[in-house]
Amino acid sequence: MSRLAIMALLATVMSAGVSGSTLTGASDNSLDNFSDTAPDHAPENSSENAVDGLLKQWRAEAQRPFSASAGAAAWTRQFQGRSCADCHTDVVSAWGRHEKTGKRIEPLAPSVNPERLTEVAKINKWLRRNCKWTYSRECTVQEKGDILLWLREQ
Ligand code: HEC
Repeated sequence: MSRLAIMALLATVMSAGVSGSTLTGASDNSLDNFSDTAPDHAPENSSENAVDGLLKQWRAEAQRPFSASAGAAAWTRQFQGRSCADCHTDVVSAWGRHEKTGKRIEPLAPSVNPERLTEVAKINKWLRRNCKWTYSRECTVQEKGDILLWLREQ
């Protein structure tokens, strides 16, 4: 075999190798890895701790005790045709879809997505943005408390 033929053969083998490996792209099954065995105590950054802290902080300003059933009702309540369920759907254990951008949104329910409601800053940031989008104003502490109390049980 000539040197040229060997080089050509090598080039073919190498390019086949490269395209072969790009075909096996990692599939996004990160949700499959979530364990469904809950620890007996809440870890440092759990939804228990983050939500408990916020509820405690808001309680003094709220007009009545927080209510999970009020939170559930608020979830699908429409304001000028908009609701929280528009992007997150009314099944919070399912994937959502951004109403405007079409981007997929991971489930909000901590039972299937343990990263949810674990970071106070993230919760506050998104409640502010999403309440403004949905209701054209920020949510009251009552509304936020009711929703988080309900959402963390989902
Ligand atoms: C226009 C689409 C849209 C609407 C409507 C919407 N959200 Fe969201 N929400 C998002 C996006 C985008 C994120 C951030 C992306 C992500 O975390 O996956 C988010 C994140 C959140 C989070 C953060 C959870 C966490 O800890 O990770 C909470 C809580 C939340 N939304 C609550 C609400 C509530 C309550 C309403 C109704 C008042 C609402 N959302 C309406 C798009 C929306």
